[in-house]
Amino acid sequence: MKFLASIALLAATVSAGPLASRAPKQFTLKTSGAKNDAHNDLYLYSYHTGAGLSDAVFSDGTANSAHVYLNGTEALVDLGNTFSWGIVAGGDNSYSSWDSVEINAGASSKGFSIKDGNFIWTRADGFGGWLVCDWVHNAPQLFYLHKSFEGDLPSSCDKVDLKPEY
Ligand SMILES: *[C@@H]1O[C@H](CO)[C@@H](O)[C@H](O)[C@H]1NC(C)=O
Repeated sequence: MKFLASIALLAATVSAGPLASRAPKQFTLKTSGAKNDAHNDLYLYSYHTGAGLSDAVFSDGTANSAHVYLNGTEALVDLGNTFSWGIVAGGDNSYSSWDSVEINAGASSKGFSIKDGNFIWTRADGFGGWLVCDWVHNAPQLFYLHKSFEGDLPSSCDKVDLKPEY
């Protein structure tokens, strides 16, 4: 009995060990900390806008949520295709107050990480945090703020944290 138990334990250790460490840990991204409670507890999903292109949009519930994983500092998204998609922070126009975030095929911005339980981005001229606005897809959509932004946000927008949920 004792012998069988150790065999079972050994088998479990062997199968959980190398596989678990090699497979990237996937997570969904959930909004938190918005002033408008309608913008809290929403999950990121990929809203298709064209071949290989989508916008980063939110819905309640995890049914369609994007499964994100980090490869170095790239944030890749498993949409069930043979190729990978990634989170792309667009624009990069320092005269803008905020810019778009997309989920595109075969691309990802670099500089993503998880710090103190938050999914963040770092960029040379500063990351001012995540923004969620009710936008053109008639759904809350993800943007990022430039560090230099001071002023009022449109009333449909909220600053949010993005919490990885495993
Ligand atoms: C992860 O990054 C490495 C090094 O940049 C790259 O070779 C590899 O293809 C990436 N993996 C995926 C799934 O994109």
